[in-house]
This record gives sequence, C-alpha cells and structure tokens, in this order.
Amino acid sequence: REACTVIPEAWRFDCYPERGAIVTQDMCEARNCCFVPGHSGQNGVPWCFYPPDFPSYSLVSQQPTPLGQKGILKRQQKTYYPDDIMTLQLEVFEETNTRLHVKITDASSPRYEVPIEVPTVTERAQTPEYVLQLSKDPFGVIVSRRSTGAVLLNTSVAPLFYADQFLQMSSSLTSQYIYGLGEHRSSFQHDVQWNTLTMWARDVPPTEKTNLYGVHPFYLGLEEGGLAHGFFLLNSNAMDVVLQPAPALTWRTIGGVLDFYLFLGPEPASVVQQYLEVVGRPAMPIYWALGYHLCRWGYKTSNTTWEVVKNMRNYGIPQDVQWNDIDYMESFLDFTYDSVNFDTLPDMVKDLHAHDQRYVLILDPGISSTQPPGEYWPYDEGLKRGVFIRDADGKTLIGKVWPGLTAYPDFSDEATNEWWFENIQRFYRRVPFDGLWIDMNEPSNFLDGSTNGCPNNNIENPPYTPGILGGLLRSKTVCASAQQKLSSHYNLHSLYGLHEARATSSALTRLLGKRPFVISRSSFPGQGQYSGHWLGDNRSNWKDMTASIAGILNFNLLGVPLVGADVCGFSEQTDEELCVRWTQLGAFYPFSRNHNALDSAAQDPSAFSPSARAAMTSALLLRYSLFPLLYTLFHQAHAYGDTVARPLLFEFSHDPRTYGIDLQFLWGRGLLVTPVLLPGVDSVQGYFPAGRWYDYYTGDSFLSAGEDMSLSAPLDKINLHLREGTITPTQRPNVTLWVSSGQPLHLLCALSEDGDASGELFWDDGESLDTYENQLYAYVLFNVNKNVLRSAVVHAHVEASYITVESSSFYGVQSRPEQVLVNGLEAAFSYKDNKVLTVVDLGLNLNQNFTISWS
Ligand code: GLC
Repeated sequence: REACTVIPEAWRFDCYPERGAIVTQDMCEARNCCFVPGHSGQNGVPWCFYPPDFPSYSLVSQQPTPLGQKGILKRQQKTYYPDDIMTLQLEVFEETNTRLHVKITDASSPRYEVPIEVPTVTERAQTPEYVLQLSKDPFGVIVSRRSTGAVLLNTSVAPLFYADQFLQMSSSLTSQYIYGLGEHRSSFQHDVQWNTLTMWARDVPPTEKTNLYGVHPFYLGLEEGGLAHGFFLLNSNAMDVVLQPAPALTWRTIGGVLDFYLFLGPEPASVVQQYLEVVGRPAMPIYWALGYHLCRWGYKTSNTTWEVVKNMRNYGIPQDVQWNDIDYMESFLDFTYDSVNFDTLPDMVKDLHAHDQRYVLILDPGISSTQPPGEYWPYDEGLKRGVFIRDADGKTLIGKVWPGLTAYPDFSDEATNEWWFENIQRFYRRVPFDGLWIDMNEPSNFLDGSTNGCPNNNIENPPYTPGILGGLLRSKTVCASAQQKLSSHYNLHSLYGLHEARATSSALTRLLGKRPFVISRSSFPGQGQYSGHWLGDNRSNWKDMTASIAGILNFNLLGVPLVGADVCGFSEQTDEELCVRWTQLGAFYPFSRNHNALDSAAQDPSAFSPSARAAMTSALLLRYSLFPLLYTLFHQAHAYGDTVARPLLFEFSHDPRTYGIDLQFLWGRGLLVTPVLLPGVDSVQGYFPAGRWYDYYTGDSFLSAGEDMSLSAPLDKINLHLREGTITPTQRPNVTLWVSSGQPLHLLCALSEDGDASGELFWDDGESLDTYENQLYAYVLFNVNKNVLRSAVVHAHVEASYITVESSSFYGVQSRPEQVLVNGLEAAFSYKDNKVLTVVDLGLNLNQNFTISWS
C-alpha cells in the first residue's frame, strides 16, 4: 500500500508490540495495519505499523469549565484488543501558568486511579505559557509553548487506544534529548533509537533494557535553545515506554486512566520543581544521613560488625553510620535478632551512640508464616488484624523470601501501618536503631506468584503484557490478582515501595520524634517525601561504577536526591584501585554507603593498604568538609524541589555539549566533580562549559571556551572544580558529622571575571522535624561584589550562633591587596601568585552580618 510505504521509518508506530511474536503479513493485516518487512538484521523499525487512517477516537463535543474544558471522545470501530471503551471523557485543567493537566477517563464508569495526593486547583491559570489545541478527528492533544511556538506534545501522531487493559498514547518529542523514565540502567540521556523502557517494579540486579526496582513515568525533554519541559503520566500499571527516532514517544499501559501533566519549565530545574509540586518534594534528611555509611551482607556476628567500626575509628576514617543486613536476624525473621551470634548487638549500638554514631538495620516486608503459633507476634498479630495481602480467593497469599514462606503486609491499608509501627516500636525497645533500610519491596518473591500459583484469568494474563523480565506480571513477585485494601495488586504493585516507605517513615517519626531515616529499594513518584534510595545490587566493576552516575542524576531529577550506589560494588570481588576510585566518587553521592555481598572479601576502608586507606580517608574528610554545602543543597531540594547531584545540562542548558554528559556532575550550582572511571590511569578527561574554572584545592584557574580538558588524577585525588561566581561554605572536617558540624566555617569564594560571587547557607539543629516549616533555622546569603564580601542573615536563628566563620579564601583576586578589612578593622592576610587571597582567624558570628573587603 502506497499510504504505508510513504511513512518514514522513524515515524512508524508499532501495531504489533507483542514480545517474541514473529509478525507475518496475515497477522499484521488482521489488525488492519501496514506490513513492510525490513531486512533481517532487526534495527528496531516495526514491520507492522499503523496506517494514517487507523481508527482512533474523535472529539464529538466540547464545553468550557471553570478550569479549562471538557469533552466527549468516541470511537466508532473496535480495536484488536478486547473491551475498548468506546466513549471517553476528556478534562483539561489549566492549573498554573506552567502546568497543564489532562485527564481522559471512561465516560460511564469509574476506573482505578493512582492513590497519591496531587494538588487541587480552584482557579484557572491567568497567563498560561502553553497553547492548547484539540484536534477533533482523529482526536489529539496538541500543546505548544506560547513564546516559541514549539510543539511540546502532539498525540495525534498515532491512534489513541483505550481498552480496558490496553491504553496507548503517542506523541512527538521536541528533540532526542530526553531524560527521566526511571528506573533503568542506561545513560542519563535516553537512546531514542527504538528503545523500549518497561516499568513494573522488579527485584533484579541493574541490567540494561530491563524493568528495575522503581517506576517513574516522568520525562524531561529539551527544546531548541535549551528550553525544557516535562511530562508526567500518573499511572501505576505495568507499562512500556517506547522511544523512537522521529523523535517520538509512546506510552503503553495496561490499566488505570490516562491522567497526565505537562510542565513548561522553561529551565530544566524549574521543570523538576513543577513536577515535584505535583508528586511531593523530598524530605529534609537528618544531618547524619549525609555522613559515610558502612554496611555489608555477611558480617557473621555483632562482634565482627563492631570490629570494623573500631578499626575505622582507630584509623581515623570518618564514619557516621554502621548498618546490619539480614545477618542480624534470627532465621531471617523481621523484628528478631540472633541472640547467639548477635548477642552483643545492643552493646554495639550503645557504643555507636556513645561515639556520636548511628545504627541502621534492614527490614524486609515478607513476614514468616511458618513459625509455631504463639511464637512470632508479627505474623500472629498480623493475621488477627488482617494486615496481609490476600489471594484472589481471599486467603492470605504466601510467597517465599529469606525466612522461607512469608506473607506480605498490605501497606495500602492504614491498619497495616499501625501494626507495622507496633512491630517497629517493640523491636526498638530491644535494639535502639536510628534508621531503617527497607529492601525487597517490589515486593520480591523467590516464587512466581505464590505457593499456590495464581489463577488463570485476564488479570494474570492480560491481552498484552509489557516487556517485563520473565514475561509475566507475577515473575518473582506476588500474583497480580492478589487483593489489597485499595485495589488489586495488578494496579498497586509498583506502589508497594512507596507505601512501605510511607508507613516506615511515619513509624520512625512517631517513635523518635526526629527526621526519619529510611532507604528504600523500590520507589514511585513522590518517594522522596518518605525515603532515599540506593541503586540496588550492582557489581564490583568499573562499568557499574560508571553507570552509577547516570542513575544518581536520574533520581535527582525524579525527586529522590538522597541516592547512592553501593560504593566499591555489591556482588563480585572489588579490588583496591577500584575501591579507592569508587570511594572518591562515592564521597560525592548524595547518599554514600559502602555495601558488599555475602561471601565477598571485606571492602570497608579499613581492609586496605595504608596508602589506599589514606586516599579513602581524605576523600571522606573532603565530603565531611563540604557538609555545609551539601546540607544547604538538601534544604533547597526540600524547599523548592532542586537537585543536589546535578547534571551539567541543568546549569548550562544553552550548551548542547552538556546534554549527554553523565561522567561528570555538579553539586549544586558550582562544584564540578570529575571522577576517574577507568583502571590504571593517572589522568582524566572532563568537559568544562565556557567560563572560568578554579581548581578546588589550589585556586589555580583556567578560562574555558567550552572545552575538554585533561586533568592530572593520581590515585589519591578526585578532581573538583569551582565554577566562577560561586561561594561554597565548608567546614573543618572530623570523623563524625556530629563533631564536624560544630566546627568553624571556611568560605571559598570563586570570583567571576567581573569579580562577583554568591552563595548561601542553611543551618538548623540537624534533626528536628520541620525546622524550615516552623522557622527554626538560619539562612545566610554571601555575596562578593567590588572587592567586598558581605554576609546577610536573611533568617536568623540561634543555631547559627554556635559556629563561627573562621576563614575565607578568594580565588581570582587579580592583584595583591594592600589592605584587608574585616568589619572595617584591618586584618592579616596572605596572597599567592595564583591569585588566591586568604584571610584567617576571623572568629565571625554567623548569625550577624559581616563584611570582608580588600583594596
Ligand atoms: C538484596 C539487597 C541487598 C542485600 C541482600 C540481602 O539483594 O538488594 O542489598 O544485601 O538483599 O539482604
């Protein structure tokens, strides 16, 4: 057919997405689609694709509403999937000037909708930055940016499907620069060359092209000139997201409704802020969350765990938190500890606390169902209260995890959360832990479905199954047909980690009255409100270390800034060089934890040679010295929805060379990290966007025109550069953040070509709940202009009076000053030929405005 062959390959939308199907002409034409077979060396172009006249919906009526408009969509002809919903309701809400919300639902009966809270708006946007157009036949939503005319969304590029278990919507993209869409192992910028990203929470070591632990149907796209927009599909069902080189994107989900938001930015950072306004901004972490964490699977006893802590102390290596994996449990039972091998656990925790250190332990959701009645309260009580997920017949569903057969708490039910809290409280009385690690919460199951399998019905075997690892919804999890309080597991599966994190963080808040520390493996939009995340079971190799950067940047974009990968690698055996380099990179993970698998040799810093230990110690001290910056960045993430570990393109969106960078990253606006990611080298290449860059350590600088630079990188060094125009607050480090965060401050001012710089500091007691919301914090702005550094206390609080500003360095002072004045009084200073001015012994109260000037 002529109409078929004229469709350019890049614009062919797959009509036969079924995995593993070898599509023949008959099969394809039975779907009324175009069949144009390609060459055998499959390059991803679909052989069977929609013709231009493939039946879709048409908009048959339209009426204005207070917030926008609504309309009715009708389909005349059925599709090749069962249960088309022939009449749909369309609602458009112009919620803010930068946020458009569109909802397409079944016009006659309610369907499952994702149970997360989103903002309710009562007033229509006054001067929207978007222009909405609805095409009638075929129906399509077309949204463009008012200022440039760029088309950000155009769903008329392919037919709309809205069957009971197959909903599909495609759109053109503004460019091939597309980010987000977690959780996947991939480069930060997604490949649009026929790349299908499947989403369905899954326990599997990070692998390319596989659904992983978390689900985040949100992307950020770049436009001409570096403008950015975002798109969020609020849907939790199993789905495929197909990227193709047109460039275009297809959402293909098997349930729920089409409920989506478009965010107009126009900067990458404001896109993320606007997204997080909808799903929830991240919590402010307790201060010690930002310290160094040590963990492993396979500490055989509490004493071996304790030994490591003591070695770390003896060597003077920073450590804030010690963790235990499932080893501590009695027969892997949650809320128990092994009274033989871990008999000294309470003493160890006491000792950690006496050294201003903290203790975190693991909890898995699976509750053993095979303990003798009367002997295991969590199960007995849980059964009594009906807290567990039920199978399709209403009986407690039994799967298998570490302790053997287990039941799964249904965290979508408030009653379960109360039971969970009581378990945590009872166990806390025996072991006063400080935070919780929630693992296996996809939820993971060593069986497929349950001990009784799963029923054979269209929930278990939907007409279309996205490209899930294992091929079935129940692969290594519980049955899709299992019942939870709010809905079926089919709908709620990928929310399990979010719900467990919410229950756990609220339990810790109730119990401890401080900011809860929770790290979760599975995640969903809004996760950052309740927990951080680690990237799961990586391997001890250079490739996995490299891939961690893209993963961390992605979770920052997704609103979970408290994220890290297992430093030195989880499975396989690390080696000293890799572990040194990884500790240096890990010192710049927002969440920095060394974790190791069962049976691998020790890989904590104390296990290595003196020179390796020294390199690791200095990397960790560097991290601790940057705590004031890191803490302030987390405040900004919490208050505004900013990223902490930041992709270069967020700061340099006018420079296309930054769009693909995921081997370097920033902390905030101006601290550039260029780690070594290869063995056996002593230099590293990095890209430096146009402007002056200062070596963090020395103040030496160069002016880049937007260039690659080769940097010297001996094994004991991680390259750090300061962007011109930034002020970075640092602090004399110590081995715990408790001690370190009480030390005097040093301000590092990296002057711009015009001699300007600015920065800020958020400071509070580090652990109380809602200090920002309750005004219990200090906020100080620093600004350099015309040879004067001024501090401005824009929000005063007594916490800021406990630390002083002791010293300051000014990078880029063009000539030796004759005089330096501190609050108008002459002060001693030093000046070096590399244009670094340093002033020491300042003793300035942070809670009062001060000036340092030179002339
Ligand atoms: C899972 C976790 C891993 C943990 C192990 C044992 O594989 O991802 O971090 O060590 O279970 O609990």
